[in-house]
Amino acid sequence: MRPLLIAGNWKLFYTKQETQTVLNDFLASYKQTPQLDVLLCPTFVNLDAASSILKQSSVKLGAQDVFHQSSGAYTGEISAEMLKAVGCDYVIIGHSERRQFFGETSEHTQLKVKAAQNSNLIPVLCVGETLEQRENGQMESVIEDQLKKGLQGIDTSKPLVIAYEPVWAIGTGKVATPQQAQDVHCFIRKSLAQLGFSADTIQILYGGSVKPDNVAELIQCADIDGALVGGASLKPESFLAIINTVSKERTHA
Ligand code: PGA
Repeated sequence: MRPLLIAGNWKLFYTKQETQTVLNDFLASYKQTPQLDVLLCPTFVNLDAASSILKQSSVKLGAQDVFHQSSGAYTGEISAEMLKAVGCDYVIIGHSERRQFFGETSEHTQLKVKAAQNSNLIPVLCVGETLEQRENGQMESVIEDQLKKGLQGIDTSKPLVIAYEPVWAIGTGKVATPQQAQDVHCFIRKSLAQLGFSADTIQILYGGSVKPDNVAELIQCADIDGALVGGASLKPESFLAIINTVSKERTHA
């Protein structure tokens, strides 16, 4: 059985002090469960402070983006080595907000996945279709293209996580039904196998309006190995409620 992963994407929220307060509150009630990893991804400037707090726990630290070059004249960018040095184990790559607002393409994500793996960071590669693409019947071709281009030439033996995040479900309150999500996860797993990855061992997370009250039925799906949570990861109560629900479902499974 694949271990589960519940990841919190804090996006552009929280100052350093707020980050410290929320993390301390979260850890005060968090209990580790076997086969269930927890990951938090604060903003770049708060990674160091978060690392100092999280290193006393089993909770993993991740960044929300990375640049593919290791150093040089690239004003404003952050390298994979720098993320590793500050205590990150994971990095989110190709989030739909980066594709939408910052012009990121699958060619960029490919370079980033490679750079992350070269620095022993686990990439969490995000894929997903817009509502228009889904309605036009392009969902599978869009996701296949994001996977094919984003993973071209990537070392298939290194750890990798995929997050399926339908763009129409992010921050909208419109969660995919468990069946919709399961169908796409199954399709992603098949595509990964075709690309030469040991697809059965790769964690595929669902993301998009995951909340304490909808996570139970999502996590029961055979190909859903966890969640990438935005809004509901910001408050310790709701993030803990998600983690506890998932851990209960796993115990019953
Ligand atoms: P959401 O965000 O849970 O707020 O919909 C998910 C994400 O963007 O990773």
